[in-house]
Amino acid sequence: MSQNEKDTIKQALGEIIDPSSDQALKDKDSVRHVGIESAEDGAKRVNLVIGLDSDDDKTKQKMQRAIAKVIKLDLKYQGLKIEFELNKKKDSILDDTKQVRYIGVASGKGGVGKSTVAANVAIALKRLGKKVGIIDADIYGSSIPTIMGMEVTAPRGDENENIIPFEAHGIQLISTEFFIKKDQPIMWRGPMLGKMLNHFFYDVKWNDDIEYVIVDLPPGTGDVAMDIQKLIPESQMLIVTTPHPSASHVAVKAGFAAKQLNHSLLGVVENMSYYNHAGETLKIFGEDGGKQVAEKLETDVIQQIPIGQPKSGHHSLFEMDEENGVIYLGLANKLLKEIHNQ
Ligand SMILES: Nc1ncnc2c1ncn2[C@@H]1O[C@H](COP(=O)(O)OP(=O)(O)OP(=O)(O)O)[C@@H](O)[C@H]1O
Ligand SMILES: [Mg+2]
Repeated sequence: MSQNEKDTIKQALGEIIDPSSDQALKDKDSVRHVGIESAEDGAKRVNLVIGLDSDDDKTKQKMQRAIAKVIKLDLKYQGLKIEFELNKKKDSILDDTKQVRYIGVASGKGGVGKSTVAANVAIALKRLGKKVGIIDADIYGSSIPTIMGMEVTAPRGDENENIIPFEAHGIQLISTEFFIKKDQPIMWRGPMLGKMLNHFFYDVKWNDDIEYVIVDLPPGTGDVAMDIQKLIPESQMLIVTTPHPSASHVAVKAGFAAKQLNHSLLGVVENMSYYNHAGETLKIFGEDGGKQVAEKLETDVIQQIPIGQPKSGHHSLFEMDEENGVIYLGLANKLLKEIHNQ
């Protein structure tokens, strides 16, 4: 079935007024799910999840009738199944703290350590007791499954066509890599790209209490990278650069692009900042790249990360007793402060 068909249904239902709030369904984003099932005889059934401000029988009956009119009479579907759920009260502080926060990790240049930072930040947040997921949206070079040591298998879905994330190191993960055949290049463009990303951002069945979703974005400011940034729900961005001018120069552009798309900046991570060797600190890739990016973007260098290899032999994930592991914990702490003070 086409996305358009679902959009048409969503749009038509959006105009219905919910008597429990006196607002149109679209105003509260109350059409939570639209699914279409085809029976063998060609009859189509629409499955809906609708949010309501109160779930007393009278409200539900009124809504049932209004929705049936749209689905069966106006749009001519044969079957209809509605599940109602109670809307969360957005203005309560409790619910606000439950809201999923998206943390986008972006860079101007490839190879600066964006995915390494994304994975280690996720693990550090988990170590701080948070419920964390990762969306690996780097369609040019998805690498999070490899970093997390995960086997790539076909994604699973539930009965409502939601994607069920994979789990490794206690972190839930969804990746472009699960949707392509191993070692095959693919051009994600236009509608196909949009469809997959919409799935990633709106149809993943995260464990209910997920708090933070880290998004590994494609590097750069090309069309595709920007399309992806446009599709992410309101997000706070970390900009990754190395100290080298070749990276910092384009990191500035990536930061401005994020700002233009109304994502707020959490700060700049300067990766591969220095190398500790025999008591000396060597600035192998130069210095101040991060500082310059932060100044131009009117934000701060939230963390410098040295060049380092995990002791475990794992090529990217650091333990808590290693220097970089401790640094990532510090970064995660600062991010939490930053996110909850904004
Ligand atoms: N602080 C560091 N010290 C040493 N090696 C690092 C560090 N950060 C990243 N690396 C290594 O650099 C390489 C590139 O890192 P990574 O894949 O995270 O970058 P990326 O920006 O996501 O790249 P891409 O654009 O390909 O997605 C990897 O081999 C990674 O292990
Ligand atoms: Mg990467």
